[in-house]
Amino acid sequence: MKKSLRIYPQKTPLRGTIRVPGDKSISHRAIMLAALADGTSHIIDWLPAGDTLATLAIFRALGVSITAEEKNSQQWDLHIEGRGLHGLQRPSSPLDSRNSGTCMRLLTGIMAGQPFPSLLDGSEQLRKRPMSRIITPLAAMGAQITAENGRAPMQITPSPLHGTRYEMPMASGQVKSAILLAGLYAEGETAVYQPAPARDHTERMLSAMGIPITTADGWVTMGAGERHLSPFTLMVPGDISSAAFPLVAAAVVPHSQVSVEGVGYNETRTGLLDILDEMGAAFTVKNERVTGGEAAVDLTTVFSEMHSSDVGGGDTVVRAIDEFPIWAVAASQAAGRSQLSDAAELRVKEVDRISRLAGELRKLGLSMDEKPDGFAIDGPVRLHGAEVDSHDDHRLGMALAVAGLVANSPTTVHDAACIADSFPAFVDTMRDLGARMEWV
Ligand code: S3P
Repeated sequence: MKKSLRIYPQKTPLRGTIRVPGDKSISHRAIMLAALADGTSHIIDWLPAGDTLATLAIFRALGVSITAEEKNSQQWDLHIEGRGLHGLQRPSSPLDSRNSGTCMRLLTGIMAGQPFPSLLDGSEQLRKRPMSRIITPLAAMGAQITAENGRAPMQITPSPLHGTRYEMPMASGQVKSAILLAGLYAEGETAVYQPAPARDHTERMLSAMGIPITTADGWVTMGAGERHLSPFTLMVPGDISSAAFPLVAAAVVPHSQVSVEGVGYNETRTGLLDILDEMGAAFTVKNERVTGGEAAVDLTTVFSEMHSSDVGGGDTVVRAIDEFPIWAVAASQAAGRSQLSDAAELRVKEVDRISRLAGELRKLGLSMDEKPDGFAIDGPVRLHGAEVDSHDDHRLGMALAVAGLVANSPTTVHDAACIADSFPAFVDTMRDLGARMEWV
């Protein structure tokens, strides 16, 4: 469904306290690992969004019984009856990851270890994304995966796996996780080197389930030996990558103050907060607590006069990798030339986020200098309303919607239904803060 979202210039401050939906990365992993556990796991505040619902449907198709208590449009509680590492059933049709790269790449690691064949497929958009980054290391472990030009659909043929020591050329949480998940089925030790610390939710969850993982000198290692996963109870923290949109909106709309409660605060994910801090954005972090091995906090941002920032270096970039579309909006309102480098990975996200962002922001009056591995923005810019397109990328759609709030005339984001891939109640949540936006 191709819906359009109209956003009006925001003449009043955004104010209020909200919750954002559960973390998408953790929600995918919770289903996958609970499915492999020896017993029933309970996942609280799981995210029912387009991407994670693909994972849920796939694990049901693999024979896993999952019951959902639908508390509201963005929070479900799940009971997942794990079938053990060796209890998944042969699916009767291709496994459809829809638009979700995380679903497909992590699933490939699990399916490589199964005694039955499987066919992994996804949307037209997902079929364009590189899968050789997982096929290469999984093949080195003995997996048999065929894919034309390193793209989905991928056919997996049963084959015994052995451990590996693999140096990732890029810092990717998805690649690392695919290898560790295959490692559950491999004989011997599996170790992955990460050039910078990519998100570590898989390691945390596996450790909590009784599979010890060690991290030293960039190597993440899962030891050899008999493996069983214990079931778990997990409360999913709010997704910091979703919280980023209302928080940046508060930083750029004059006199705003927005609090987001219960946001995940895993240090492999908090890069945007460090960058905004450096730009002079005023925010506070309160009530740190730990749920299911993951930290959560309450974050508050108030409108701030920001200055530009030079963002680069693997560590910072990987910790903010999903936040650069909305960071571009913050940079457009900050004084001076903001620059991003070392972020070539943005070109292989849902879409090429560097060129698509540059193209759409240009329509709003912002000229962005595109570089192979990033971009530069001279701010502050008075944006004007325009007709823009999400290109079926949820984060691009939400970033453009926030940009529309600081434009001087109405903006329409076309093809905006994809926002529900990660943040189904984005529009209602923004309206609760006083934002003027509506589906048209
Ligand atoms: C994710 C890892 C990141 C991120 C994606 C989710 C994950 O991708 O961009 O949105 O859940 O592991 P890469 O691993 O490709 O960097």
